[in-house]
Formats: sequence, C-alpha cells, structure tokens
Amino acid sequence: MIRIAIDGPSGAGKSSIAKAVAAKLGIVYVDTGALYRTIGYFVRESGFARTDIEGIVSCLPKIAIEVRYENGAQHVYLNGEDLGDRIREPEISMYASAVSAVPAVRTFLLDTQRDIAAKNSVIMDGRDIGTVILPHADVKIFMTASNEARAWRRTKELQAKGMEACYEDVLREMIERDHNDSTRAVAPAVAAPDAILLDNSDMTIEENVAAVLAIIEEKCGGTV
Ligand code: DC
Repeated sequence: MIRIAIDGPSGAGKSSIAKAVAAKLGIVYVDTGALYRTIGYFVRESGFARTDIEGIVSCLPKIAIEVRYENGAQHVYLNGEDLGDRIREPEISMYASAVSAVPAVRTFLLDTQRDIAAKNSVIMDGRDIGTVILPHADVKIFMTASNEARAWRRTKELQAKGMEACYEDVLREMIERDHNDSTRAVAPAVAAPDAILLDNSDMTIEENVAAVLAIIEEKCGGTV
C-alpha cells in the first residue's frame, strides 16, 4: 500500500496530474475537494448564505455522502444522487471554500477520506492531506503555480465543460478562495513541513507528471 498526498491552491493542476499518475501506477485517485463541493451544493440548495455558519452546520445531519469508483472514476453520491459536474460551477466553488472553513464540516468528512486511504493505495489531492488527513503519507507534494497560470487553466477547464467563464472573474474568485483556504483557523491550506514543493507554472502536463513520478520513485523506490 502506498499513500501519496498532493496539496496546493486551486487551479494548480493537482487533479489532472494526480489522475494521470494514478492511472500510471494503478492506484486510486481521490479528489477530496469534491466532498466539500458536495456539502457546498447541499447548503446552497437549502437556501443558506455561505456566511451562515449555523445554517451550514444544520445541514450536516441531513447529508449522507458516499464515494464510489466506477470505471476508475470517482463519483460522489449525495443522499443517493450523483451530482456530476453540477459541483464544478463557480458559485459552488465559493460555497465549497466557505463550508470548508467550518470545523464541523471538516470533522464530518474526516473518516470518509481516511477510510478510502485505509482500504486502497491512493493519490489524494486537497488542501490538508499531508498535514491532517494522511500525516504519515509516503510522499507529500505541495503543488503550485503563479496566480495567472492557475486562473488561465481554470478558465479553460470551465469553458471546456461548457460553462461560462471569464478570466478576470476566475482570477478574482480564485484569489479570494485561496485567501480563505490558506488563512482559516482549522486545517489551512499550507505545505506540510516534509512536503516537496513543486511549482509547475512553466511545465507542460507531461513534464509535471514526469516530475511527480520522479519524486515518488525517489521516495519509494521499487515499492510502487
Ligand atoms: O480542490 P477544489 O477546488 O475542488 O476544492 C474546493 C474547496 O474545498 C477549496 O476551496 C477548499 C476546500 N478543500 C479543503 O478545504 N480541503 C481539501 N482537502 C479539499 C478542498
């Protein structure tokens, strides 16, 4: 069993790279942001503002989240329903960031994340994987890139999904979200002291995948 933690700000390419690395190594890719997005979706659907902490906490007993892997892809079920790309909408990104700062939400999602890693070899991406969820991960990488590079990638990703996205809005919301995520009191998005920093601003996807595989090889040798 191997556990690889990939943390970093939004749009750093964590999910694309982690997915490719998981496929190469034949291990499970876990997108933990999808769990916070799912809670954000439920809170918005319930009509609460994202600043309404009591409202957010009151939603938790009504939420059952299940993570399933179908043909190698992660699906998150909210009360039995697969929300698909509905959790990728920019408004849900902002809700996800807001709910993720609420300690009760983080506690609510802790076991789901640790259970997956207890049963499978994983590459898990998020904000607190190396610091909180898997503090004993075999490999920890903190992946980042310039604000501009990240905002461009996110804009193109949304447009490719057929969603409306304008670079300036994406950049502004991304900076706000990064600020929320990295300054919150509980499990802020910071690099673990033993994480390897990887700035991929000037890397192609192939170069980035190769860089991650090289780090894993160096840390784990022939055990993968
Ligand atoms: O990775 P993402 O953009 O899909 O994550 C959505 C939000 O969820 C992000 O703004 C912060 C939060 N999040 C978190 O707090 N901890 C994680 N492990 C993953 C995501």
